Amino acid sequence: MTFSFSQESIYEAIGGEKTIRKLVNAFYPRVGADPILSPLFPEDLTFIAEKQFMFLTQFLGGPTIYSDVYGHPMMRARHMPFEITPERARQWLKLMKESMDEIGMEGHARDYMFERLTQVAQHMINKPE
Ligand code: HEM
Repeated sequence: MTFSFSQESIYEAIGGEKTIRKLVNAFYPRVGADPILSPLFPEDLTFIAEKQFMFLTQFLGGPTIYSDVYGHPMMRARHMPFEITPERARQWLKLMKESMDEIGMEGHARDYMFERLTQVAQHMINKPE
């Protein structure tokens, strides 16, 4: 998919900090209630949600607040302790899509962000179905 904003990063195009905060707040309660994903996560998702907020900020072209604290993202390596199957990746993306709908994200910026997240989710898979 080709996509360009003149001077703007995708971070700015989606509405920056406010949107990412809302998205993460919509996403993790879904993860916590999901029979496929919740077994992988701790009961208290506050810390993970904060890390995700920091990661997405950086990933989308905002300030590098994840690396400033945690170093190189190495997302695949950080996910290796968990069995990420194709089914779990699909479920992660489904919940992310629902969260984007809930907070009213739409248009090209949303589509582009979702496309990039789909690539990352595919890359996280470390176990066959
Ligand atoms: C494909 C399906 C995915 C599954 C099943 C999954 C699952 C997990 C789990 C179990 C953790 C660790 C929870 C803990 O520390 O106890 C985690 C951490 C994390 N995940 Fe995912 N994840 C997936 C995809 C993604 C994607 C696509 C992204 C980014 C766009 C992402 C970003 C993160 C971040 C930033 C953390 C925190 C890493 C850290 O600093 O420790 N994950 N994920």
